Amino acid sequence: MAVNQTREQWGSKLGFILAATGSAVGLGNLWKFPYITGENGGGIFVLIYLVCIAVVGIPVFLAEVMIGRATQSSPVVAFDKLSNASKTNWNFVGWIGVFSGFIILSYYSVVAGWALNYTLMSISHFFDTLSPDKISQTFDVLYASGDINVFWHAVFMLLTVGVVYGGIKGGIEKWSRILMPLLLGILVVLFFYAMTLDGFGRSFKFLFYPDVSKLKPSGVLEALGHAFFTLSLGMGAIITYGSYLSKKEDLVKTSVIIAVLDTAVAIIATLVLFPIIFTFGYEPQAGPGLLFKTLPIIFSQIPGGMILSIIFFLLVVFAALTSGMSLLEVVSANFIDLLGWGRKKAVLIMGSIIFIIGIPSALSGSGAIFKNWEVIYGINFFDTVDYLASNWLLPIGGLLIAVFTGWFMDRRVRENEFMTGTSFGRGYKYWLFLIRFVAPVAVFIIVLQRVGFINIDKLFSW
Ligand code: PHE
Repeated sequence: MAVNQTREQWGSKLGFILAATGSAVGLGNLWKFPYITGENGGGIFVLIYLVCIAVVGIPVFLAEVMIGRATQSSPVVAFDKLSNASKTNWNFVGWIGVFSGFIILSYYSVVAGWALNYTLMSISHFFDTLSPDKISQTFDVLYASGDINVFWHAVFMLLTVGVVYGGIKGGIEKWSRILMPLLLGILVVLFFYAMTLDGFGRSFKFLFYPDVSKLKPSGVLEALGHAFFTLSLGMGAIITYGSYLSKKEDLVKTSVIIAVLDTAVAIIATLVLFPIIFTFGYEPQAGPGLLFKTLPIIFSQIPGGMILSIIFFLLVVFAALTSGMSLLEVVSANFIDLLGWGRKKAVLIMGSIIFIIGIPSALSGSGAIFKNWEVIYGINFFDTVDYLASNWLLPIGGLLIAVFTGWFMDRRVRENEFMTGTSFGRGYKYWLFLIRFVAPVAVFIIVLQRVGFINIDKLFSW
C-alpha cells in the first residue's frame, strides 16, 4: 500500500461544499426526481422522501465523510485501515464502490451525451420548424444512432477527464466553483420563468399537498432508494471527497448543508418542469421521455424557447459533469492510493477504460452490439447496467457502509471523528441509533423488495 506523502486537500470549506453538492446534484435531481414524484402521487411522496433524506440519507452521508476524513484515503485503502479494529477485512466494500464507479459513469456519460446533443440542437434552432411528433421522434432516432452516441459519450468523458486531471484544488474544486454557481443561477432564472406560468399553482399544490390516499408502500421504497442515488451514497464518492478534508471542518453541519442543497435543487427543478408540462397540456410521463421528448416540444412552442432550451440543457450538462467528476475521482483515487500511481496516469487510464466500457451502452439502442441482449434478458444493455447500479450496487454498498460504521468501526475513532470540529456533539447518540438500526433495516427492506422476496404493496393491501 502506498503511503500518503502529501495528500491534496480542498482549498476551502466552500470548495468542498460546492464539489460535494456538485456530486450530489445530477441527473437524479433534474430528471429522475420530477418523474418519480409524478408517478408516486406528488406531495405525499415528497414528504416521505424528505423523511428518508433526514433519517437515512444524512446519517449515511455523514458516515461516508467520516470514513474518508478519518483515513485520508479513498474507499479500498480506507476500509483496509479501519478494518484492523474488527479483525474482518471490509475492503471489499471499497471494491464494490470502485466497481460501481466504473459502471455508473460508463452509462451516466451516455445520458450526459444526450444533454450535450440537445444543447447543440437548441443552438442550431433544430426544433423551430418541426411538428411535435417529429421532435419526440428525434429522440428515438438519436437513441438508435450508435455513432452519434459514441461521439457525445467521448466528448463528455473528455470533459470529465480534463477536469479530474487537474487534481482536487486545480481541477474538481476549481470547476465546481465555476459550474455550481452557474447551475444554481440558471435554475433560479428558470424558476422565475416557471412562476409566471398558469400551471405553477397546480404544480405547487401537487408537490406540497400530501394526499395520503395516493400513498403506495412501494413508493416509500422508491423514495429511500432515490435518497441514496441523489446523495451519491453507497459507492464511496463521498468517502473519497471526505478524504481531502482537514480535521478542522464540522462534518455534521456540512453534511446537513449539502443534503439540504441537493434536496432544494430537486424540488426547484420539479417546480420548473411541472408548470411547463401542465401549462402546455402534457402530463408528466415516465423515463427519459420527460426530459428529452416532451420538453423540446414545449420549448419549440413558447416565445424565447430557443434560449430557454439552451440554458436548460446546459444546466443538465453542468449537473452531470460535476457528478461525473466524482465518479471518475473514486476510481482514479483508488489506484493513486493503492498502487502509488500518479494522478495523470490514473485519470487517463481509468477515463479510457470507462470510455470503452461505456461503448456498449452508447450502442445499446442501435442494435450494433449485443443484438439479442433484450431478447435474452428482457431489457436492453443500457437499461441493464442502470438497473444493476441503482437498484443493487448502491443500496447494498450503502447497507454495508452503515453496518460497518455502526457496528464494526473502532468506537473511539468513530466518536472522535464525529466530534472533531463540530458543535453538534450532542447529536452523536441519535446519529448512532440511525446508522445502527434505522438505515440498515430500511435498506435491507429495499433489497428484499428488489429481489422480489417481498412485495410491500401486497403485504399492506390486506
Ligand atoms: N448523485 C448523482 C445524481 O443525482 C448520481 C451519482 C451517484 C453520482 C453516485 C455519484 C455517485 O445524479
